[in-house]
Amino acid sequence: MKRVTVDLPGRPYDVVVGPGALGEVAALLADRRRCAVVSQAAVAPHAAAICGALTDTELFLIDDGENAKSLATVDDLCRRLAEWGLLRGDAVIALGGGVVGDIVGFAAAVYHRGVDVVQAPTSLLAMVDSAIGGKTGVNLPEGKNLVGAFHQPIGVLADIDTLTTLPEREYRAGLGEVAKYALMGDDALAAFLRERADGVLSRDTEVVTEVVARCAALKAEVVAADPEERSGLRATLNYGHTFAHALETTSDFALVHGEAVALGLVFAGELGRALERIDATEAAAHRDLVASLGLPVTVPTGARADALLAVMRRDKKASGGLTFVLRGPNGLEAVEDPPAPALEHAFRAVGVDVH
Ligand code: GLY
Repeated sequence: MKRVTVDLPGRPYDVVVGPGALGEVAALLADRRRCAVVSQAAVAPHAAAICGALTDTELFLIDDGENAKSLATVDDLCRRLAEWGLLRGDAVIALGGGVVGDIVGFAAAVYHRGVDVVQAPTSLLAMVDSAIGGKTGVNLPEGKNLVGAFHQPIGVLADIDTLTTLPEREYRAGLGEVAKYALMGDDALAAFLRERADGVLSRDTEVVTEVVARCAALKAEVVAADPEERSGLRATLNYGHTFAHALETTSDFALVHGEAVALGLVFAGELGRALERIDATEAAAHRDLVASLGLPVTVPTGARADALLAVMRRDKKASGGLTFVLRGPNGLEAVEDPPAPALEHAFRAVGVDVH
């Protein structure tokens, strides 16, 4: 079992990574009067490991899919928690992927003005990214994640055993976020992914535990330094994401998030190269790593630059114009409004139609 500390001043918490990590729930919550486990049907069988370790628990199921990330789901969940009698000193456990983590984290942030939450991610993407750092939220018809709160968990239990039943496409998509950490500048992680590619793709428990723990350590370091995304540091975790979000939106979510991030990383590498912030070898390393993890390096046919640019200008992280996180001589930085020829080069490099 590996343990990574998110060293927030006054409220540090651990990310426990490894097979059987759900068993650590007793150490976190054994003193609580009662605990609500919130999950979805497909992953609910994993709740047995949690319910067996605590005295008074109840399993609450919520719907699957991005459409469930709504205020209506939060309203319904909070009402069920109230009916069961969950009080402020009790706790909630979010058992599932990113959607569960977001909904339950947000419900925990507002229920009784805040109850403790343990994140128990069951997807690779949630283990390496969304379960760590306290970002929670739901969608509005007007846009994704428009209502939310920072609500740090009191612990994260990344049980690698839960990944064995994850559908292949979802597992690969999680590798998109893993590639992000490597390409943000962790050369040791990039080398590990290259050397142990077979183990990564076959979900070897020891290899995946190492990968998740390394990504968690990188995220923990950034979150501890900039917990509420105020200094600009935490925004660097969005490497590849400006293009990825636009691609998800314009393709009507034909690509899942991690696949879009993979393409966003190739795009960011090529844009950085066109702006002479990184050299051709480094840009090629972006493409090679993404391809070696079985992720796409060219967009689905029909992606158009004008449509992507329109969405990227509306990105909630943009400050009016176009903002990209890019690598360069000073590490990762926000770059505003790159010139059109550089953008065109990057669009073409991932197969986007620029006319
Ligand atoms: N997924 C980026 C963040 O947590 O800040």
